[in-house]
Amino acid sequence: MTNDRVPPSGLPDPVRRSLFALGGLGLGAATVGFLAATFRFLVPNVLYEPSRRFAVGPASDFPPGSGTFLPDRRLYVFNSADGFYAISSVCTHLGCNVKHIGRGFECPCHGSQFDENGQVVHGPAPKALAWYALSLSPRAQLVVDLDQPVSPEFRLRA
Ligand code: FES
Repeated sequence: MTNDRVPPSGLPDPVRRSLFALGGLGLGAATVGFLAATFRFLVPNVLYEPSRRFAVGPASDFPPGSGTFLPDRRLYVFNSADGFYAISSVCTHLGCNVKHIGRGFECPCHGSQFDENGQVVHGPAPKALAWYALSLSPRAQLVVDLDQPVSPEFRLRA
């Protein structure tokens, strides 16, 4: 007769302990895998955010005295006697595109009006239109930097 105690399950204690440890390991691995998959799901694979610094074309595409609306960029690029400058077309009220009219801008959504420098003339827009820095690339392209706001005195001489 052996010394091993045989419980009602019919398995000796060492075998039961091994099976219990194996079950614990399996449960732990499943928990770690579930948590890893959950946190991985929260992280996007790729961020599709357009660059905030981009070329809008050669300076020669913007003739003297012109104001060009770039709908894809929601931006106006002007070529005045003093130089080039860029003003956002995004209304500071709720984000509609403002229209360049005469010597200023008007928002078709709720009627805000801005002067030629983008300053609010008539609300409900709470703030002036944004101005962004322009530079000239080595290939003579005008480059706008949306991360570099500038004052309405800004001009790029090309
Ligand atoms: S979005 Fe321009 S006035 Fe409301």
